[in-house]
Amino acid sequence: MSIEERLEAINVFLNETRSFEPPPAFRRQANVRDERVYRDAATDPEKFWSRFAEELIWIKKWDRVLEWKPPYAKWFLNGKINASFNCVDRWAKSNLRTKKAIVWEGEPGEERTLTFGDLYEEVNKCADALKNLGVKKGDRVALYLPMIPEAVVAMLACARIGAIHNVVFGGFSAESLRDRINDSQVKVLITADGGYRRGKAVPLKKAADEALENTPSIEHVMVVKRVSCDVQMKPGRDHWWHDLMAKAKSECEPEPMDSEDILYILYTSGTTGKPKGIVHTTGGYLTGVYATSKWVFDLKPDDVYWCTADIGWVTGHSYIVYGPLANGATVFMYEGAPDWPQKDRFWKLIEKYKITIFYTAPTAIRAFMKWGTEWPASANLTSLRLLGSVGEPINPEAWMWYHKHIGHETCPVVDTWWQTETGMILITPLPGIVTTKPGSATKPFPGIGASVLNEQGKQVKTGGGYLALTKPWPAMLRGIYGDPDRFMSQYWSKWKNIYFTGDGAKIDQDGYLWLLGRVDDVLNVSGHRVGTMEVESALVDHPSVAEAAVVGRAHEIKGEAIAAFVILKEGIEKSEDLSKELKEHVAKKIGAIARPEDIIFAAEVPKTRSGKIMRRLLKNIAEGKVLGDTTTLADPEVIHRLKQQSEEEG
Ligand code: WT7
Repeated sequence: MSIEERLEAINVFLNETRSFEPPPAFRRQANVRDERVYRDAATDPEKFWSRFAEELIWIKKWDRVLEWKPPYAKWFLNGKINASFNCVDRWAKSNLRTKKAIVWEGEPGEERTLTFGDLYEEVNKCADALKNLGVKKGDRVALYLPMIPEAVVAMLACARIGAIHNVVFGGFSAESLRDRINDSQVKVLITADGGYRRGKAVPLKKAADEALENTPSIEHVMVVKRVSCDVQMKPGRDHWWHDLMAKAKSECEPEPMDSEDILYILYTSGTTGKPKGIVHTTGGYLTGVYATSKWVFDLKPDDVYWCTADIGWVTGHSYIVYGPLANGATVFMYEGAPDWPQKDRFWKLIEKYKITIFYTAPTAIRAFMKWGTEWPASANLTSLRLLGSVGEPINPEAWMWYHKHIGHETCPVVDTWWQTETGMILITPLPGIVTTKPGSATKPFPGIGASVLNEQGKQVKTGGGYLALTKPWPAMLRGIYGDPDRFMSQYWSKWKNIYFTGDGAKIDQDGYLWLLGRVDDVLNVSGHRVGTMEVESALVDHPSVAEAAVVGRAHEIKGEAIAAFVILKEGIEKSEDLSKELKEHVAKKIGAIARPEDIIFAAEVPKTRSGKIMRRLLKNIAEGKVLGDTTTLADPEVIHRLKQQSEEEG
C-alpha cells in the first residue's frame, strides 16, 4: 500500500487524543528518570553507546567506537567479546549463581528451572558436544526447535564457540528449513522429535528428515527428546542430544570473538520470493539489546520477565535470550498455545510465576479481547508492573484494553517498533519518563536517528511519509548473507546513506510517531512478516495454477490476512475442494503462517499498462470495498468482472 492509502486506512489513529503520563510510583523507581538522556545521547551518540558497552565484559576493549562507511557500519572496532560469557558465565561466576535464569513451563504443565549455574553447565556441555561434532568458529548451525530451554542453551552454546546460529521457526515447513540450511551452508542441525501445541505432539524431526533429503552441507543432527514420539535416526548422522550431552565436558572455553564477528543469521521475508538472511554481529548487537532491555523494560534484579515470542523470530533472539540474560534477568518461557487447555492459560501463568514484565503482540491482545475479560479477571495479575507490545501497529482500542484489563491502569505500556534488521528496539517510550498515547510507539530511543521522510528524502515535520533511519545504531544488520547487492537495493537506495524501513509513519505535532504498516509488498500477518511473492510462488507451484496475485486484507485478529487471487490453468475447474487444496499447498510449502485466508478464483488479474499487479484494487475487492479509479488499468473490464464475481461468492 502507498502512504496515502496507509494514512487513509488508519484515520482512526489520527483522532486519538488520550494520553497517559508515567504513573508516579513507577517513575520513582524507574531505571531512567531524567529526560536529559535524550539530549545527551543526541549530542554525543558514540559516548552514549560506549557507556552501555562498558557495562558488558570485554576480553579486550575496543579502540574505536564507530566506523561508518555507508551502508556499512562497524561498532567497537577491535574489541573482543563473547556473548555467551556475558549472558551466562558473568552471572554463574558471581553471587547470582543460584538465581533463576530460565523458568519454563511445558504445554502439558511440567516445570523446569535453570539457575545461572545450571545454564552455565548446560551451555558448556552443548558447546563441547558441538565441538565434538566438528563445529568450528564461523561454521553455521541451524536450530529447528520447539520453545524448550534447550533452544536457549543451543543458541548460547553456538555463541560460546563462535558458531553462527541460524534459527528456523518450528512452524516453518520442511522446504523452508531446507532453503535456509542450503542458503547458509549449515553443517549441524539441532532439532527435537517434536513439541506440544494444543495438546498434540507436532513432529519436527519428521519435517527435518524431509528437509535433509537435499542438504549436502549437513554433517550431523542433534535431536532433543521432547515428546517421545517415534523418530528415525540415521546412523552416523543423527545423535540424541542427551547422549552427546552425557559424554560432553562441563567446561568449554568461550571463544574470544571480534566485535564484528557474526553472531547469527536470521531469515526474514522480503519483497521477492526468496527470504533474506539478515546478518548480526557480536559487540554492537549485544550492546544494543542490553541497553534497550535495561531501559525499555526497566529490568531490575527481582523481575520475572516474560516475552511470549517464539525463539524462531528476532524478538526471541533479542528479548528472550541476549538482552535479558546480558542483564542477568530471570526469563520465563512457555512452550504452547495461549488457549490450552483454556483461554486463561497466560493469565494463570502470570499468577503462578508472578510475572512482572509481560511483552506480547497486538494480534494476541486482539484475540484476548475477543475471548472476553472474564479470563484475565479470573487470575491475579497484580505482580505485573510493565506491559510491552511488538510486531505490528497496535490499534488504540487494543492498547486501551491491554492497559485496563491486563495492566489494571497501573502498568506503563511500551509499544516498541523495530525489525529483524534493526536487531534492537528503536522506537519506544521510556516507561519512567515518556507520556504514552494509545497507538503510538512515541519517540526514537535515545541516540537513534529516526525521521519521517517524503519520497524525495525531505523531512516531514508533521504528517505522513516513510519511516527512515538517519544514523547508524549498534545492533543494525551488517548485511544480507551472501547478497550485498540486495542489501544495497533493499535498504540504502531510496535515499543517500539513509536506511529505508519499508514502513509508513505519521509524525504528530508533539513529534510522536504513529507506525502505519508496510508500504512494500510485504504483509504482516499476526505480527509475522510474509512476502506476497513467496506466497505467489508457492501457489503457482501447484499444477492447477497458472497465475496468482496475493494481497493483504484487514483482519480483526491477525491485523492482515492473506487473500490470494488465482487464475487456473486451461481446463481446470474451480471448486471448494481445490480452494482447500491450494491453501494446504501453501502451508506445506512455507508454513501455516502463510496459509491464505481466502482463495478468489479469477479469470484475469488487473495490471497496469506496465504489467504491475494492481494490488490496491485487489485488496479493495478482497475487503469488499468500493472501487477506486481504474483508469490506469490495461483492461478496465477485468476489474468489473472480478468484483462482480467476488461479490457473488460472498
Ligand atoms: C515489521 C518488522 C520487531 C520484531 C517483530 C517483527 C512491524 C514491528 C511494530 C510496532 C508498528 C511494527 C513493522 C516492521 N512492526 N513492531 N511496534 N508498531 N509496526 O519483526 O518480522 O522483522 O517485522 O513489523 O512493519 O517493519 P519483523
